[in-house]
Amino acid sequence: MEIKTVGIIGAGQMGSGIAQVCAVAGLNVILNDVNEAAIARGIAGIASNLERMVAKQKLSADDRDAALARIRGAVQVEELAPAGFLIEAATENLEIKQKILQGVERIASRDSIIATNTSSVSITKLAKSLEHADRFIGMHFFNPVPVMGLVEVISGVQTGEQALAETLALAKRLDKTPIAVKNAPGFVVNRILVPMINEAIFVLQEGLASAEDIDNGMKQGTNQPIGPLALADLIGLDTVLSIMEVFYRDFGDTKYRPAQLLKEMVDAGRLGRKTKRGFYQY
Ligand code: CAA
Repeated sequence: MEIKTVGIIGAGQMGSGIAQVCAVAGLNVILNDVNEAAIARGIAGIASNLERMVAKQKLSADDRDAALARIRGAVQVEELAPAGFLIEAATENLEIKQKILQGVERIASRDSIIATNTSSVSITKLAKSLEHADRFIGMHFFNPVPVMGLVEVISGVQTGEQALAETLALAKRLDKTPIAVKNAPGFVVNRILVPMINEAIFVLQEGLASAEDIDNGMKQGTNQPIGPLALADLIGLDTVLSIMEVFYRDFGDTKYRPAQLLKEMVDAGRLGRKTKRGFYQY
């Protein structure tokens, strides 16, 4: 089935990034959040990203206007009904996501695919709360969504072949590179990446080197575009902590214990770029 309209639940950093790449790829987007202000913030962020692309001559002014015109805000979940593909990008919390997904399933047409952009909640567990779990799948984008090429496509135990095929096809249509993976804590990329970031925080906590030198070491020594501490600030320290907590709980292995400094930073509200202060000031 050709997808013409994508419904996105959550207009935050990830949801608005996904909305942007869908609209630029020529898809209609219905962007849902709990209130008008959240939707307006999301759309303003998209407009400013597209503006930057126009200034860099990566997008024409006409294409920018057309992309923005394809995005429609929606406060009521019922307004998502015309979407052939729905992507939930709300808070990283099992109960909240289950509630949203159940609401979405109630209004979605029977042949639409429902995906979640979760980075840490089990696809199999989320699927359990749905009636038609075969059409439910993980579609995990990376931050910043318009820049990062990867999409992890995650099948839970119940996910059907059709949902997998349609999700891989959509990712390609968005000009992303999808990888198909099975459900497990952190899937594939975060399972490798986030413990590395946590280890960098341990190194800082132990006073072995400054934040700048740890990051420079990893940048110059392993060709990463930004160091692990700067990346933690980009991802959000609360998200890094919650992923480590999932690993620690679900694998039951002490190698996944979150660094105390990470917990302290989160308790202090120093969550990285989004609060203008993390390991660095913004
Ligand atoms: N939205 C859209 N475009 C953005 C952007 C954003 N938020 N931030 C940067 N860009 C674009 C810039 O416009 C610029 O575009 P051009 O090349 O066309 O000029 C390009 O990205 C590079 O940006 P800058 O020159 O400003 O800065 P930079 O070279 O330091 O790049 C970066 C910024 C792309 C974020 C780069 O530092 C990088 O790739 N970092 C690693 C990001 C990463 O690993 N992300 C994955 C996080 S893990 C995750 O997301 C999974 C999870 O579940 C936690």
